Amino acid sequence: MDNPADGRNPSYRALLTGTGFSLPQKVVTNDDIARRVDTSDEWINTRTGIRRRRVASEKESTALLASAAARKALSKADVDPAELDLIIVGTVTPEMVFPSTACFVQDSIGATHAWSFDLAAACSGFVYALSTAQQFIECGRVKKALVIGADCLSKLTNWEDRTTCILFGDGAGAAILEQGTDPDRGILYSTSGSDGKHWEALNCQAYGSRYPASKPLDDPNKIYISIKGREIYQQAVRKLVDLIEECMTQCHLVPDQVKMVIPHQMNARIIESVAKRLSLPDEKVFVNIADYGNTSAASIPIALAECVEARHITTGDIVIFVAFGAGMTWGANVIRL
Ligand code: ACO
Repeated sequence: MDNPADGRNPSYRALLTGTGFSLPQKVVTNDDIARRVDTSDEWINTRTGIRRRRVASEKESTALLASAAARKALSKADVDPAELDLIIVGTVTPEMVFPSTACFVQDSIGATHAWSFDLAAACSGFVYALSTAQQFIECGRVKKALVIGADCLSKLTNWEDRTTCILFGDGAGAAILEQGTDPDRGILYSTSGSDGKHWEALNCQAYGSRYPASKPLDDPNKIYISIKGREIYQQAVRKLVDLIEECMTQCHLVPDQVKMVIPHQMNARIIESVAKRLSLPDEKVFVNIADYGNTSAASIPIALAECVEARHITTGDIVIFVAFGAGMTWGANVIRL
């Protein structure tokens, strides 16, 4: 394959060598939600494609799920935790304000030689984290990296608000990246962007430095996720189409050469619109939102691990990850497995 047109010609490539995911035990169906708020399985499924989601218990947390996903990915890659140089966790529902979730994961899995940090890009967290780890591997500073997307949005959800509580689920997905030298394998291209002027469309405002826990809130709903669903829907379709087109152009790909597009699982209707606009057949676009809802930064790595396990994708295949989320943030990666 030609090098992408971004002018990069790295000596090293970031190879994907292992994947894993972890979900909370508890399943919450649309009917379960319809018993609490004025909605129905039919409404939720028709508008979003979601049928059920996993919801973390009081004892399940972001670091717990992230660590479980990491162990599976390490085992698949046959990498000892002590060999890891870097851990990045994409999350907006960290274990605590600080220290980072990545430090909790490091301790839990025994990655004694890694340096670790979190990256907050909401639903784009995994693709941002993957691009970041890629840079460290390509420049030679890191040989083995653990990249995780993990979120427990249920903990920021108002379960009495039917406009948001139907959308989200909890989970974690992990990937191991290792340094390689074959120019035709690994992450071939990454792109990322953001636009802070649309922050109000999707946010959770408490408790940061603007609204600290020590001060009473002017609006108690600031502790919950707030979304302008229509606005996000339209922006998401446009941006996801642009990103996939950019990936194909930069990597000189035609749709036949792409084995699978793995989009952020935000809404099945959004994914269908994107696929239709790009004339991508169903079998090239992975969708698992029916079972898990929108798991934020975890959605792409969970879907990736499921695709690998089901052998929908295998060594040599070209896969595109594409995401859009709060910020607004967006990004994509092209990888040859
Ligand atoms: N059940 C029944 N009716 C509902 C529900 C519900 N759960 N939620 C809203 N409605 C009603 C509204 O009150 C409204 O009623 P009205 O016409 O009488 O005023 C009607 O349904 C239509 O509401 P809309 O918000 O316009 O519904 P829409 O078709 O846009 O679907 C949805 C809403 C599913 C949220 C959609 O806009 C969407 O998927 N948006 C993008 C997804 C998104 O924002 N995800 C959050 C990402 S967060 C992240 O990724 C970190």
